[in-house]
This record gives sequence, C-alpha cells and structure tokens, in this order.
Amino acid sequence: MDIKDVCVIGAGVMGSGIVQLLATYGYNVTLVDENEKIVNDAKNAIEKNLERFFVAKNKISKEEAENYLNRIHLFVNKEEAVKDVQLVIEAVFEDMNLKKKLFAKLDSICDKEVILASNTSSLSITEIASESIHQDRIVGIHFFNPATVMKLIELIKGKNTSEKTLKIAKDFSEGLKKTVVIVNDSPGFVTSRLIYVMCNEAINMKLEGIASAEDIDAACKLAFNFPMGPLELSDLVGLDIYDKIGDYLANEFGEKYKPSSLLKEMVKDDLLGRKTKKGFYNY
Ligand SMILES: NC(=O)c1ccc[n+]([C@@H]2O[C@H](COP(=O)([O-])OP(=O)(O)OC[C@H]3O[C@@H](n4cnc5c(N)ncnc54)[C@H](O)[C@@H]3O)[C@@H](O)[C@H]2O)c1
Repeated sequence: MDIKDVCVIGAGVMGSGIVQLLATYGYNVTLVDENEKIVNDAKNAIEKNLERFFVAKNKISKEEAENYLNRIHLFVNKEEAVKDVQLVIEAVFEDMNLKKKLFAKLDSICDKEVILASNTSSLSITEIASESIHQDRIVGIHFFNPATVMKLIELIKGKNTSEKTLKIAKDFSEGLKKTVVIVNDSPGFVTSRLIYVMCNEAINMKLEGIASAEDIDAACKLAFNFPMGPLELSDLVGLDIYDKIGDYLANEFGEKYKPSSLLKEMVKDDLLGRKTKKGFYNY
C-alpha cells in the first residue's frame, strides 16, 4: 500500500510532534483537533520548531521549512480530515471510552482500505477496536516523545489486527527511519509498563522525603547512565498520562501498580509538567 496522505487526530504534545515528523518525510498531513485554538497553536509551534532547530542551524532552507508547513492542513471536522487519507493516527487523551468511540466512528467514515492506528501508550488495542466492525485494520503505532527525535516505534498487534495491517504499519514506521519492535497486545506494552513503575516509585520517594527531585534525578542519571531522571521524564511525558496509565495497569494487574498519592494530587492541581509549565520543575 502506498501511503502518501495521513490524518493525525489530536493536536497535543504527541499529535503535533508526529505531524512535524511526517511533514518532513514528505507526507501530506491533515491535523484535526476538536479545539480550533489547539490545532492552530500546534501549527504555530511546528513553525517555530522548524525555524529554531533546523533553519537557524542551517540544516534546512527557509523554502524547505515552508514546503513542510504547506503539507500540513488543519481541521476540526473529522469527516473532512480523513477524506482521501490512507492512514489515520489517533493521539487524543489516554481514555479507553473516548478511543473506543472514536475508532468506531473512524471505522464507519473511512474507506475500508484505510489503516487506523492508535498512539496509545498503554491501552489495549483489542479493546480500543472492540466497537469497530473492521478490527483487522486497527493497530497500535506507539511513537515516543519527542516523536521527531526518538528512534523507537512500538507496534502493537491487537488480537484481530491482520498480518497485512501489521506489515503496512511496519513499513511505514521504518520509512520514518525508526527501529520497530512488535509487541503483542498487553497493558502498558513493553515500554510504558516498565517506565511507569520506575517513575511512580521515584514519585513515591519524593513523597516520602527520601531525596529532593533534583537528587533523585541526578542519582538515576549518573548511576544508570540515563539521559534523563524519572521526575524530569514524568514532566516531559505529562503527569496526567502517567496517572491514567497507573490506574489502567492497577486495574489490569493489581495494586502494586497504583499511582502514587502525590501523582494524583499533582494532577488534581493541574501540575502536569511541561504542558502546564509546572510539575516537579518549573518551565
Ligand atoms: N505524552 C507522551 O509522552 C506520550 C508518548 C507516547 C504516547 N502518548 C499517547 O498519545 C496520546 C496523546 O497524548 P498527548 O500527551 O499528546 O496528550 P495531550 O493532552 O497533549 O493531547 C491530546 C489532544 O487530543 C485532543 N482531543 C481530545 N479528544 C478529542 C477528540 N474526540 N477529537 C479530536 N481531538 C481530541 C485534545 O484537544 C488535545 O489537544 C495518548 O494516548 C498518550 O497516552 C503520549
């Protein structure tokens, strides 16, 4: 299958990063969000990123940056955004009911050949697909943050994902110069299950006053050669995302995955990390 046109749903942290990545790889991208301001802000942020990290560093010309931007089209209406695309990548909130309903809708409005992918970081692809008729074309394409930089894509094979869909998703991901790992559907997959446990434990250490945020992060970076400490990483990912992942894993696997009470409190106070400019650190 020749993928040239892609729709990305959700213009938050991940959606905007994925769109920037795809535009630089020559794809025509439609970006859709239910909030018009968010979708406009996302394109402005992509423009600034291209200027700051590519044009200003002489990696690409001004004309190339303009070409990339011209490939990005903004929508609030999903029916219009998915018209004529061969692949849809969903990056809305980490919420099972929201995603289930969205995929059922996509299944009904998209041409039957269109591949429907979720960028969920933890939720079951099989369950996300459960209200759709053509479940064989639904797959997880899990990008990492920032999508333009991180080299891994975790491909999630749902119970009903077809081999054909998996192969198209794999070829597409490798075409973005990413290394692909294939994971059978399981809560948190490989990466989120592991990283959540570490970050949640670091948040509990902060709560217990074992060390400052700076020292917990410095200890992990220097002891384990991590590029980023667990609290810095939590701020980057978004505390709301870890809270949702934790609730989901605790529900599926048991109490030991329960989110720290400090994580819950910070989410309640809108201290989500970089996206709200305050988390364990100020931005
Ligand atoms: N943040 C990360 O580091 C990270 C990494 C990998 C995967 N993910 C996954 O990517 C997804 C998005 O995460 P994010 O951090 O970008 O979230 P975010 O909160 O930054 O963005 C979500 C966006 O979805 C939009 N949205 C919500 N419901 C919608 C709907 N029905 N239709 C259209 N738009 C809708 C919101 O307006 C918002 O702009 C989640 O499933 C998350 O688990 C996140």
